[in-house]
Amino acid sequence: MLTFTNRVAVVTGGASGIGLGMSRAFAARGMKLVIADLDDEALDAAVTEFSSAGIDVVGHRCDVSRLEEVEALAKRTMETFGAVHVLCNNAGIGIPTSARKLKLEDWKWIIDVDLWGPIYGVNVFLPLIEAQGEGHINSTSSMAGLIAGQMMGAYNVAKHGVVALMASTERELRARKSPVHASVLCPGPINTNISRHSVRFRPGQSKPAEDSVRAGRMAGNIQAALEQGMDPDEVGLLVADSIAREKFWILTHP
Ligand SMILES: NC(=O)c1ccc[n+]([C@@H]2O[C@H](COP(=O)([O-])OP(=O)(O)OC[C@H]3O[C@@H](n4cnc5c(N)ncnc54)[C@H](O)[C@@H]3O)[C@@H](O)[C@H]2O)c1
Repeated sequence: MLTFTNRVAVVTGGASGIGLGMSRAFAARGMKLVIADLDDEALDAAVTEFSSAGIDVVGHRCDVSRLEEVEALAKRTMETFGAVHVLCNNAGIGIPTSARKLKLEDWKWIIDVDLWGPIYGVNVFLPLIEAQGEGHINSTSSMAGLIAGQMMGAYNVAKHGVVALMASTERELRARKSPVHASVLCPGPINTNISRHSVRFRPGQSKPAEDSVRAGRMAGNIQAALEQGMDPDEVGLLVADSIAREKFWILTHP
């Protein structure tokens, strides 16, 4: 079973929402942290929060959709702490759209961040984690990785892919009796700023993603559901506990 104290956790999208909740839960268990995010301001705030509490922490700017940036994240982690034991591929974005009207550049952006991000994470970090002889790799999917609802086509495709990626990874780890485990987090509504961040980071953000009234109504419904959602710190505690118990499926809602 994984020892948390003095081990090293890397959390992508770790400066906000669920990722920040995971970072807090890992810090509470005595881990050292590498927080990776695109948002410089949020990254600085997170590093200040942890370092002023005496936690060993590094903030690293990283776009998970770019392989060379994920490789640089791994290099920085190894140079700073000499090891990595836990990776949470958590960074993600999503915008409500119909599969029919979604522009190809938005399809590409969503798949690049939400699916290629975790693929790069597994590819780059799994050999490093296995070299430690203990560890865990988790990726954040969604309920949308299990059920494909309307108006979230590209997000559904990416999040289903993340479930398949982690299920394949875990089966292969068990088949070769690796000391490392894999898991997938499938949250329901969580009270975060994902809608605002997704609008902010979307390439060509001045153009509407989809100019229909339905998409606008859907965005409003999603935002309202998130505001009623679970506290992201609670999700972080659930993830740390599930990693400790080597659980594959991590679901926040029945
Ligand atoms: N909030 C929910 O209800 C919910 C439900 C299911 C799944 N999720 C998933 O949870 C994960 C975390 O989202 P959240 O709700 O905490 O949102 P959030 O916006 O609060 O946090 C996501 C973080 O990822 C960062 N980020 C965005 N694009 C990035 C990139 N290309 N590279 C690196 N960092 C990037 C953002 O700056 C932000 O800090 C996402 O994968 C999301 O799809 C969220």
